[in-house]
Amino acid sequence: MKVLIIGAAGQLGVDVARAFDGCEVHCADLADTPIALDITDYEAVRLLVGNLAPDCVINTSAFHNVPKCEEKPAMAYAVNATAVQRLAAVCHEAGARLVHISTDYVFGYGGTRPYAEEDPPAPLSTYGASKLAGEHLIAAECPDHCIVRSSGLYGHAPCRAKGGKNFVQTMLHLAATRPEVKVVTDEILTPTYTVALAKQIRVIAEKAEPGLYHATCNGQCSWHEFARAIFEETNTDVTLKEATSADFPSPVKRPSYSVLENKHLQAQGLDIMPPWREGLREYLPVNMAGELLNHTL
Ligand SMILES: NC(=O)c1ccc[n+]([C@@H]2O[C@H](COP(=O)([O-])OP(=O)(O)OC[C@H]3O[C@@H](n4cnc5c(N)ncnc54)[C@H](OP(=O)(O)O)[C@@H]3O)[C@@H](O)[C@H]2O)c1
Repeated sequence: MKVLIIGAAGQLGVDVARAFDGCEVHCADLADTPIALDITDYEAVRLLVGNLAPDCVINTSAFHNVPKCEEKPAMAYAVNATAVQRLAAVCHEAGARLVHISTDYVFGYGGTRPYAEEDPPAPLSTYGASKLAGEHLIAAECPDHCIVRSSGLYGHAPCRAKGGKNFVQTMLHLAATRPEVKVVTDEILTPTYTVALAKQIRVIAEKAEPGLYHATCNGQCSWHEFARAIFEETNTDVTLKEATSADFPSPVKRPSYSVLENKHLQAQGLDIMPPWREGLREYLPVNMAGELLNHTL
C-alpha cells in the first residue's frame, strides 16, 4: 500500500509513519519532512496527491492550539475545514482513501456517559467547530473517507501545536520542581497514547468501512486521576492536590466530559485500543529512559 501522511512531523504523525512499516510511506508537513507541504495550498495538494497517486492519505495536520484558534478563527477554518474539504475532493479524484483525524472537542457541556458516533456534537470552541466543519465537508466530498476522533493525545514526539511537553512530561516536570501539584478533578476524558492510536489508524485504513470512528484508549479518568496514575507508575513522591477548572481561569471553553465510545470500531471487530492505564505503562519506560533519566525535563 502507498500511503501519504500529512502532518507527519507532528506528535501523532511520527507514530503513524512508523505504524505503516512495510508500506511505501511518504511524509509531508510544513517542515521537517521529506515533502514540504502547506495543506492550505490547494494547487500543491492537488499536484502532490495527483502525481503520487497514493492508495491512502492520512491527515493528522491541524491548527489545534485551542486559545490560538479563538484568536485566529479564519486560520482555524482555513486549515481545519476549507483545506480539508479540498484535500477530500483531490483524494476522491485520485481514487485515494482519506483517513482524517478529528477530536473529542466536537462535543460540549452536559455529557455524563461516553459519546457514541451518533451522538449530536455541540462544540464549545472555534477549534471544535472548525474540526466539525472539516468532518462534514470531507463526508460531502470523498465517499471513501474514515474520520477518526480521538482525545488527550500524548506520545514521544512533541505536540508541536502545544509547545512541546505533553501532560505526562508536564506532571513529571512539576513534581521535580515544586513541593505540590494541583490538577483538576472536573474534566473527564480518556488519555490516549499515540503509538496505540497509530496502530489503530492502520487497522482503520486497511480494514474499516468508510465512516466516522471514535478511537481512544478504553476507560476514562479526570486529569487528576491521570496525574495520580503517572506518579504511581513512576514512584514519584509529590503531594497531589485536587483543583477545579475554576482554579485555572481561561477564556477558552473546554468540555467537562469528552469520553468517546469506540462503538463503530467495536461493531466491526476492529477495536484494538488498550485501556488508558496500559497505554501509560507502555509509554513510560521509553520516555523515562529517554528523558527523565537524562534529566532533560
Ligand atoms: N493533541 C491532542 O491532544 C489531540 C486530541 C484530539 C485530537 N487531536 C487531533 O490529532 C491530530 C494530530 O495532533 P498532534 O497532537 O499530532 O499535533 P501536532 O504535534 O501539532 O501535529 C500537527 C502537525 O500539523 C502540522 N500543520 C499545521 N498546519 C499545517 C498546514 N497548514 N499544512 C501542513 N501541516 C500543518 C504541524 O506543523 P507545525 O508544527 O510546523 O505547525 C504539525 O507538525 C490533529 O488533527 C488534532 O486536531 C489532537
